[in-house]
Amino acid sequence: MNILGIETSCDETAAAVVKDGHEVLTNIVHTQIPLHQPYGGVVPELASRAHVEKIKEVISAALSCGQECPQPLHVDAVAVTYGPGLSPALLVGLNAAKGLAMSLGVPLIAINHIEAHLHTPFLYDSGALGDCPLPPDLNARYLGLAISGGHTNWIDIPRYGEYHTIGRTLDDAAGEAFDKASKLLGLGYPGGPKLDKMAKEYIAEHELQIPNSQFLKSAPLIAFPQGKPREGVTALAGLPADLCVSFSGLKTALLRYVQQHHDLDIPQVVTSYQEAIVQSVADRTQNALRHHNYQAMIVGGGVSLNSRLRAVLAEVCAKNNIPLLMAKPKYCGDNGAMIAGLAYYRKNIMGDAAMRVDATPSLEIG
Ligand code: KG4
Ligand code: ZN
Repeated sequence: MNILGIETSCDETAAAVVKDGHEVLTNIVHTQIPLHQPYGGVVPELASRAHVEKIKEVISAALSCGQECPQPLHVDAVAVTYGPGLSPALLVGLNAAKGLAMSLGVPLIAINHIEAHLHTPFLYDSGALGDCPLPPDLNARYLGLAISGGHTNWIDIPRYGEYHTIGRTLDDAAGEAFDKASKLLGLGYPGGPKLDKMAKEYIAEHELQIPNSQFLKSAPLIAFPQGKPREGVTALAGLPADLCVSFSGLKTALLRYVQQHHDLDIPQVVTSYQEAIVQSVADRTQNALRHHNYQAMIVGGGVSLNSRLRAVLAEVCAKNNIPLLMAKPKYCGDNGAMIAGLAYYRKNIMGDAAMRVDATPSLEIG
């Protein structure tokens, strides 16, 4: 079964065709990063206009199977992100998907963007030999971590397709914390990849030992706070404090540090700041793994590209004797393949009701 997936929730106009939930036949991503760079963040009005301009081209390219084959790819359903995300941006994809599903006479499947990020470790390129991941075990219990520019959620997945948030950030998402620090330090947008690269060079240059969860204790780093919320604060909304993070104190600590030091060693500051984020995520992950007997951990979202996070989470999972499932780098950021892939597991859910689905900017998971 071929599904066309459309994604326009933020600053990527993306479409892909995926066979049977896993085999990616085509995957087209048009990023708007250069458009938003001068503003240091995504401007919703510009994002939706750029989606309008690009959506037809991106979908046509995803439906094309190459020059030698003039017919568009056959699709059995159209899937689309309906939230969370920027309302005007979501509407562009949603309206395109509705029109296309109607004209092709195929079902529409509305997909939660965060749930789709957690499907990315199960995607593989068509024709790839040897490194195809197994499909999800539908009855296994997974721990999910969705970590992106908009979300940092720990998610209990007792059966594939059922999601319960058990921990989350109380304020900024991890990606947002990277982006805001980068802006403050004048390193540009998006911050995550820039901070990651700088920290990697600093670690190599100073021959700091990694992977090593005791890193902060042994390395010449600044001890930034690791975002532990206090028990009983109302923002927890009933979630356990030991499964939640708060990055606002870290951000303030960085600002204060920058104001108080005039001879800043920027790479040292960046490495220390990244380490505080990574260690807080690793600590809460370790706590979450104690809650249930998980068969594997699934990580998805743009921040899962972070090299230090990947190394430290690998160590945490190895210690707990469970596999860590992470996507190939090209499926970590926003893309249509994750939407089409997850939709295969949702094909019986939405029916005609999907045609009435509205953009839902603050759609929750679980
Ligand atoms: O999943 P994504 O593409 O979009 C959202 O759904 O938010 O994630 C984008 C976020 C940005 O905040 C970006 O700075 C961050 O992912 N990011 C990274 C890295 N690459 C992208 N953060 C840390 N390290 C990276 N290598
Ligand atoms: Zn995303």
